[in-house]
Amino acid sequence: MKLRKILASDLAQVTAICDYWKSAHFNWPAAKLATEIDNSEGFVVEAEGGKLGAFVLMRSLPDSVELTVLAVAPHNLRNGSMSLLMEHLIDAHGKQREFWLEVHEQNVAARNFYEKWSFELVGRRQKYYADGGAAILYSRRISKGPCVKGHL
Ligand SMILES: CC(C)(COP(=O)(O)OP(=O)(O)OC[C@H]1O[C@@H](n2cnc3c(N)ncnc32)[C@H](O)[C@@H]1OP(=O)(O)O)[C@@H](O)C(=O)NCCC(=O)NCCS
Repeated sequence: MKLRKILASDLAQVTAICDYWKSAHFNWPAAKLATEIDNSEGFVVEAEGGKLGAFVLMRSLPDSVELTVLAVAPHNLRNGSMSLLMEHLIDAHGKQREFWLEVHEQNVAARNFYEKWSFELVGRRQKYYADGGAAILYSRRISKGPCVKGHL
């Protein structure tokens, strides 16, 4: 697996990944993704043959980093590619800045993933999503060492 910065030319593959996951939990049309890629920082993992395996987009703020959207391609699930991206983000930013994000309360895979990476539940926005589901706010405090829960 190869990690690199996201490029404008990744839009079609990023859109295809997001279309696969489209639901009340997760709705990222191409136009919104294009705006995010243009205006934020992001990284991808290339799987075999240069095919996109996973991506993350984030917005840097003075004291924190918001993870706006992340997803893994269906052919590449549970092989550690998102963990590779998270490790990179924490190495690059996590020692100086807090991370935060929002996720649908019923998105069990993502919530488990964030909790595995030491994100803590810090808030809840009721009826935030189109289906009436709440948004859960997670924060990951500035860390001194690596990364996964239990190894801060
Ligand atoms: C959440 C997501 C990124 C995790 O990707 P992944 O390929 O499983 O990531 P990794 O292999 O690096 O990490 C696996 C960890 O994620 C969690 N996880 C992933 N799938 C899970 C599932 N179906 N049920 C419970 N936990 C799950 C677990 O903590 C797992 O660790 P474990 O294998 O030790 O149990 C992926 O499921 C995804 O792309 N979902 C759709 C998009 C989305 O919801 N994005 C988040 C909102 S912006």
